[in-house]
Amino acid sequence: MLPVGRIADALQQQWCSPEADPFALAYGSAKGPASFLADLSAFLQRRTQAPTSPNELMVSNGNSGMLDLVTRMVCKRGDTVLAEDPTYFLAKGIFADVGVQLVGLRMQPDGLDVEQLEQYLQTGQKVSMLYSVPIYHNPTGISLSSAKMAKVVDLAEKYNFVILSDEAYLVLHYGGGGSLPPKSFFEYDKGRGRVISIGSFSKILGPGLRLGWVNASASWIQRISEHPIPESGGGYSPFAAASIHFLLKQPKLAPSAPALPPIDSHLDHLINTYRSRCSALSAALRATFPGTPFLEPQGGYFIWFPLPHDINADDLLKFSRSINYPLKFLPGNWCGTTSTHGPYIRLAFSFYNEQELKEGVSLLHSLISQYQASKQ
Ligand SMILES: Cc1ncc(COP(=O)(O)O)c(C=O)c1O
Repeated sequence: MLPVGRIADALQQQWCSPEADPFALAYGSAKGPASFLADLSAFLQRRTQAPTSPNELMVSNGNSGMLDLVTRMVCKRGDTVLAEDPTYFLAKGIFADVGVQLVGLRMQPDGLDVEQLEQYLQTGQKVSMLYSVPIYHNPTGISLSSAKMAKVVDLAEKYNFVILSDEAYLVLHYGGGGSLPPKSFFEYDKGRGRVISIGSFSKILGPGLRLGWVNASASWIQRISEHPIPESGGGYSPFAAASIHFLLKQPKLAPSAPALPPIDSHLDHLINTYRSRCSALSAALRATFPGTPFLEPQGGYFIWFPLPHDINADDLLKFSRSINYPLKFLPGNWCGTTSTHGPYIRLAFSFYNEQELKEGVSLLHSLISQYQASKQ
């Protein structure tokens, strides 16, 4: 699914034409090139149906880099950061490195438990930041409802904390049941400067690009772009931004035949493929483990699946490794913030075709049988 041909086309257009701009190789503006931000804002607007202003965007080196930078800007060592429980497992390492205390909030079918959040805040415990993956959450696939997003921003305003919204899966919406594409958390900020949304090209073009964006109030964009790192380095990933810019540009066709930029047809292809993979994996899980409840997500990469018989996924992984078993899954506990998620596994459907996913589910079934037999 990594679009080598499209990247090659974009590189050709950007670097091999007589108009190639050599300054794209120089230190750039700390926010990223203005023309790139204009095309990025149009892309986000098309794909999320939410108005997105170029003044509220800057180029980033992907969400991992911004998780670190924003956390360091907002928090100091020992501060409390709230997060969904479970959460994106590699973010935990970044927070540990900054030295903040992570406190988990329960997940519900419509996202984090806002009542629990409010009760926590009412205790008077100071919270510096809420880290959320609100759209097609990693690992559960759940999305935070718009009513909850609005409420969380109200709470952030009342209790004076920042929301760092990790939107790595924002535009990977598969559209089940005629549902609308989700909007960025920043859409609910309404000028209060509480929400910093971070988005990434990693899941739609390729993580090797190290390219993403920040969508936040103009004053936050100013503050982040004035950080010594983008100031000294001339913005984030200028080569990657220049190299894929062609994919975000409207093709120069006759005005009678307006066409969307190449990234849209690529994204449509990804969405169709991932939708089929998600259905194939869900169908295989339902057929193989009848009666086991799990959410079939409407976007993103993951299914959060409870193992039958309350099997502990860490033990199952240990057993699987001990017999060199050819199956990959992430044990739920790796994603835990406050509580444990022993019987859960995170299954990613993005990487495998439908046949491989079906085979993967029978492998899982057989692994569980072998594991149970080994216990008797
Ligand atoms: C929730 C979440 N945030 C961040 C990342 C990493 O993003 P990036 O490649 O933009 O650094 C991932 C990748 O799996 C992710 O799932």
